[in-house]
Amino acid sequence: MKHEIVERKIGLMGVLIVVVISIGGLVEITPLLFSSQVRDAAPGIEPYSAMELAGRDVYIREGCYNCHSQMIRPFRSETERYGHYSLAGESVYDRPFQFGSKRTGPDLARVGGRYADAWHRVHLMNPRDVVPESNMPGYPWLAESDVDGRATVERMLALRVLGHPYTDEQIASAEKDVAGATEMDALIAYLQGLGTNLQGRR
Ligand code: HEC
Repeated sequence: MKHEIVERKIGLMGVLIVVVISIGGLVEITPLLFSSQVRDAAPGIEPYSAMELAGRDVYIREGCYNCHSQMIRPFRSETERYGHYSLAGESVYDRPFQFGSKRTGPDLARVGGRYADAWHRVHLMNPRDVVPESNMPGYPWLAESDVDGRATVERMLALRVLGHPYTDEQIASAEKDVAGATEMDALIAYLQGLGTNLQGRR
């Protein structure tokens, strides 16, 4: 029987398994390549400003994603608490995306504008000063280290190669935009922008 041949030849079986799984993968992935909803930026979504980009790097470096997701799922319990569920087109300028899955703290996808800058400053220095039961660590050193303007420019240039539509003017003024800013200023700018740009869905 033909089936017996396949079962006895482990190499052949391996090849056939790869073929079958590839077909399944292609059927799932190929349509997404042609779907503008997942490929293109959602209305209002633009690449991060120099300041936000620097803040996003701090967010990644400090591992904030270990406790915070940035992905509101389409369930009522989530949308009531956080706002409109996350759209694929909101993350096109997130490299790498910060969806996360661990929620020791709340989702941050739409935290922008929820608190004043001053609240974030106190919260990031020592969360328990504003939320007594918080187990989030403090990040006081961010208030003392300056943003590296040159590195921010380099990152914008690299992202432009990947297709982020930064203009020459934006890149030329980036170093000036972040001059004198601390890493905490940049992180707060990033947090305050999260989820605020999407148009027509809130
Ligand atoms: C050990 C887990 C942990 C880490 C790491 C962590 N957080 Fe939190 N975060 C929490 C918890 C728990 C809360 C809820 C209590 C509070 O507000 O402090 C929270 C709350 C927040 C809030 C308020 C959200 C809201 O909607 O009320 C913000 C903003 C925030 N964190 C930002 C950050 C940033 C930025 C970093 C990285 C620099 C970070 N967190 C790292 C656990 C964490």
